Amino acid sequence: STKWVKTLFRRDVGTNAAAAQGEALRKEETDVQDGPQSLYAVLAERQEQAERSVLISCLSKTSEKKFLKYLSKHGEINKHFFYESYGMYAVVEFASRESVSALMEDASFPSVSHESVVPFKSRLLSLRGASSADSPHGSQLIQSQTSMPINELIRRLSREDSVDQQVISLTEAYQLTDENIRLRFLVCSLLKDITTAYFPECTIKPFGSSVNGFGKLGCDLDMFLDLDAITKGKNKLLKSGLSVEFQMKGANSERAVTQSVLSVIGECVDQFGPGCVGVQKILNARCPLVRFAHQPSGFQCDLTANNRVAMKSTELLYLYGELDPRVRSLVFTVRCWARAHGITSSIPGAWITNFSLTVMVLFFLQRRSPPIIPTLNHLRDLAGPEDTSVIEGNDCTFVSDFSRIQLQVNTETLEKLISEFFEFYASFAYSRMSIDIRKGQEQNKPQVTPLHIQNPFETSLNISKNVNAAQLDRFVALCQESTWLLQQSEATTSGGDASSDTATPWGLATLLLPSQVAGVKSNKKRRQKQTSERIKSLLESLKQNNQQKS
Ligand code: CTP
Ligand code: MG
Repeated sequence: STKWVKTLFRRDVGTNAAAAQGEALRKEETDVQDGPQSLYAVLAERQEQAERSVLISCLSKTSEKKFLKYLSKHGEINKHFFYESYGMYAVVEFASRESVSALMEDASFPSVSHESVVPFKSRLLSLRGASSADSPHGSQLIQSQTSMPINELIRRLSREDSVDQQVISLTEAYQLTDENIRLRFLVCSLLKDITTAYFPECTIKPFGSSVNGFGKLGCDLDMFLDLDAITKGKNKLLKSGLSVEFQMKGANSERAVTQSVLSVIGECVDQFGPGCVGVQKILNARCPLVRFAHQPSGFQCDLTANNRVAMKSTELLYLYGELDPRVRSLVFTVRCWARAHGITSSIPGAWITNFSLTVMVLFFLQRRSPPIIPTLNHLRDLAGPEDTSVIEGNDCTFVSDFSRIQLQVNTETLEKLISEFFEFYASFAYSRMSIDIRKGQEQNKPQVTPLHIQNPFETSLNISKNVNAAQLDRFVALCQESTWLLQQSEATTSGGDASSDTATPWGLATLLLPSQVAGVKSNKKRRQKQTSERIKSLLESLKQNNQQKS
């Protein structure tokens, strides 16, 4: 029962499916909104929802009816769903927080005779006493929290009958679901229960792809420990006469404070956090963090602190994604394509990151004529006094009221945009130019690095500093190959065969098939010939497979 959001800036082209990600992020139950909500409103609502929720490990044979009957004894349930991750789990959202307390009052302690337990109580629970006579598993809908394997995606795309439809289909298959977003906020909220033991006013906010609208099922969970509420606004109230102030421990720098806070929290998560395993403290990174796996959710978590610029860039990406549905669709497609070819990786290294790719898509969309999205400088010029934000000397101001943004009319199709994207980056002057979404125009490169993408807020930084020449070459070679593949597709195919279960890959699907391009400097013609032969033989083998099956 997906509800499509009406985008504020309606276009006849593009996809409602892409907007669904924003919608899923916002809320499910309410009626369709008139316009996009700011990220902060979305966050606040989701956080509050998570506070009223619990995570319960269930036996796979749990009868849903009995389960709900037991839980409802503690209060009204707003929403629940089951998912599988090293066993079966349920997320249950109560209508009120009192119900959570009541349920926790009712909880017993694990009866382990052979080992001891850390007496830390949390909202991560286990269901006890369900008998195997209960109705077998299958009676409840089990939500998948991982994205579909690439081969299955290729089959799905091959059955679509236009490239535009393929892009929409890919977006639908990969974007985060409402349930997955709930689970992400719940994990933040569970972690907050640990951190508030030290800092009662702190919050833990998700940022990055979990909330910027470009998250794919299975992406990591970036979290930010926000301690600002503790000191905010207090010093304006200086009165005359006697008063008191807090004695606080001094530190050498903000960074040292962040490191010591994260060190202690990391230790706590490691020693006390139910379900948190593999805790690593990476405190000497440019942005210090604690990395761990949250086993019940299956999320890889990165906890940072004092990372307000990243929160701003998340807000900016979210805004761009809300402006036009084609933004999300294109970003999803490019991210998926990059992952399929190993241009991006889950392991840190000289690879291009998803964040860099997203900024490259935004830049490309700013360069269309007329532009599909405005420059960051334009968004800054539209800002009101309430939007002013300066973080560590960096101007992070941009408009938050979406209705002030006037878009130009551009009706290009997704098909056109995706092929022009590859063409654009197949021939970009990387050696001389820098990608700059602030100005929306390529700038002379200030540093000698293979790829230069200006950090939108910390403008002296390059977000793709880590990328080496070999990785950039591979990216460019794949862009060239994809441009060519799309041209071939246009010339030779007449769309997918929806009736067949094993349609021949075409259009976008061919772009996700394995590539031989490996950054070797070969002349374009030779590579095109090789690719063409490779694709031909792939198609042949697929045809043979189909014939054998039928
Ligand atoms: N970020 C940033 N500057 C960087 C790297 C990251 O400001 N040099 C911010 C961005 O807002 C980014 C977030 O930190 O979205 C999280 O970084 P990361 O996890 O690397 O990227 P995601 O966008 O979350 O993408 P992924 O799905 O790959 O995790
Ligand atoms: Mg991330």
